Amino acid sequence: MTVTKPMDVPENGDVARPEFASWLGVSNDITRMFLAAGGIPGMINIAGGLPEPETYPVSELAEIAARAVSEHPRDALNYSPIEGLPDLRDRIAKRYSTASLHLTRQNVIITSGGMQGLDLIGKVLLDQGGLIAAQSPTYLGALDAWRPRLPRFRRIYPDRQDFDAVEALAGAQFGYTVPNFSNPTGRLIGLARRQELVDASHRTGVWLIEDDPYGTLFYDGEPLPRMIALSGSSLASSGSPYDGPLIYMGTLSKELAPGFRIGWVIAAPEMIQALTIAKQGSDMCTSGLNMRIALDALDCGLPERALPRILDTYRSRRDALCEAMSEHLTEWFEWEKPVGGMFVWAVARDPRFDTDKLLQEALRAGVCFTPSSVFDPEGTTRQAVRINFTLNASDKLAEGVKRLATATKAYVAENIR
Ligand SMILES: Cc1ncc(COP(=O)(O)O)c(C=O)c1O
Repeated sequence: MTVTKPMDVPENGDVARPEFASWLGVSNDITRMFLAAGGIPGMINIAGGLPEPETYPVSELAEIAARAVSEHPRDALNYSPIEGLPDLRDRIAKRYSTASLHLTRQNVIITSGGMQGLDLIGKVLLDQGGLIAAQSPTYLGALDAWRPRLPRFRRIYPDRQDFDAVEALAGAQFGYTVPNFSNPTGRLIGLARRQELVDASHRTGVWLIEDDPYGTLFYDGEPLPRMIALSGSSLASSGSPYDGPLIYMGTLSKELAPGFRIGWVIAAPEMIQALTIAKQGSDMCTSGLNMRIALDALDCGLPERALPRILDTYRSRRDALCEAMSEHLTEWFEWEKPVGGMFVWAVARDPRFDTDKLLQEALRAGVCFTPSSVFDPEGTTRQAVRINFTLNASDKLAEGVKRLATATKAYVAENIR
């Protein structure tokens, strides 16, 4: 380690401060615009990815939290092991094990939300300028997490007909996918494509992230197999813990409540060890109290009990949103009704649309959506909007869509001739 000598400090105190790190210069302004929009009274926010707080099982969680402190003070109130409480790691390993996927606690690290998992993976796999093969458009939070390494991105499109999984992954540090109801598009990666991605990851040796916050939010039809389970099936079963190249990420945020900041990464033991080293330098451990609450909630099946209400609420809001969109937005946009998740992705029929500009008009009309540019590492994709349907009641969603139609009409009159 090099130790540098302190510089002489001028006596008049008139010194220039050191500059901020250069990566801050490549972040986008839209996040700042959102934060400002949040404070405008009467604004309808269809931009975020927030759950409906009414769905949180408050009284049961309050009881579990009280028990966590009184009955398990050592777990709840001490520093915890960096990788997480052993019982919680075991619980997660058991939850995701299948006949062909053998998981033990060595395969699991508990993180402070799914977001921390993304950050830690970036820390352990990326040197400056490393290459990421990311499903495009890409979750904004993942781009934010990896930006400080100034990575290069290869955009990959698993939902296109001519997608070649080996070509997509070859040479990258890792691949990134959200197979269940991608953020932002709400689309599913189908079973055959999942298998192709898994096979390509095994063939090329490239780590492949399966980021799965929305896996339980299926409104129509049945969940598809997880890619990590498909990966387990293609390994010779040796009775030892999973050792393949898939990195699965889960979270309590959409199943129970995001305030706990409890997520998990499931991967080969060598990856869990690397993530543990990175986590030590990040926050040392996830909150013991919240891990204890998560463990008890999982043990007593709370997420499963909360799920039907969540699904009913979100399904009817999705239907209301899509109905309002059909009534007011078809002239300018096209979209697919998602079978799960939290978002509708609407693409402008006219390629000249710039939804960054449309957003300014929308804010004037009292509605805030997320423009497509923020899901593109270079910020150049301007033709689409992401609309969230989980946070607002159906009538408010309908009003938000009407305002968006008003804004679009004004935008088109002004900008597209
Ligand atoms: C695709 C994706 N990954 C990860 C996360 C992180 O979730 P959390 O940090 O709340 O667990 C989100 C949150 O919206 C997400 O959409």
